[in-house]
Amino acid sequence: MNKDVERILVSEEEIDGIVRRIAAEIDRDYSGEGKKLVLLCILKGSVVFMGELMKRVTVPVEIDFMKVSSYGSGTNTTGRINIILDILRGDLSTCDILIVEDIIDSGKTLSYLVDYLKLKGAKSVKTCTLLDKPSRRQVDFEADYVGRVIPDEFVVGYGLDYDEKYRALPYVGVLKPEVYSN
Ligand code: PRP
Repeated sequence: MNKDVERILVSEEEIDGIVRRIAAEIDRDYSGEGKKLVLLCILKGSVVFMGELMKRVTVPVEIDFMKVSSYGSGTNTTGRINIILDILRGDLSTCDILIVEDIIDSGKTLSYLVDYLKLKGAKSVKTCTLLDKPSRRQVDFEADYVGRVIPDEFVVGYGLDYDEKYRALPYVGVLKPEVYSN
């Protein structure tokens, strides 16, 4: 285990089970005629989950990417989202978009993105997250597919970072408080 990690919260084995379960749910829901499933990875944290999920889904998928950042932080956050990389495709009106996230915290990012993609004319928009911290919500939002609900702890790994580190850990771990309080 990484020396900065206090304990493993979601193990590699558990993540594998979650990915398989969600992939099966996606297969069930997107197997109909006329579907064009586009997995939309929200950079950077979702990249590991996205890579594993797209391998497990058996219905045809296309992939795309967006990168966003939010203004402000903590309780003062305004919820305004800044699009750094937009989805660049001309066929959105025929796309069934499934946004893939690593974690939902305040809910502002996904809430904004769903509205944004619908306004842009996507045929359908759903959401998928590996981790969910409902105790941190500031807006009313629930994802369509949830891997695991977790408590309000500082988690890293499997895409999630602290100061851009720890993203490559194969598990989700709780960071030692002394690492981020220094
Ligand atoms: C994280 C995460 C979500 C967002 C969730 O991204 O990947 O996009 O925060 O928070 P919210 O529910 O409060 O909106 P982050 O800004 O850390 O960027 P990163 O994925 O590049 O690490």
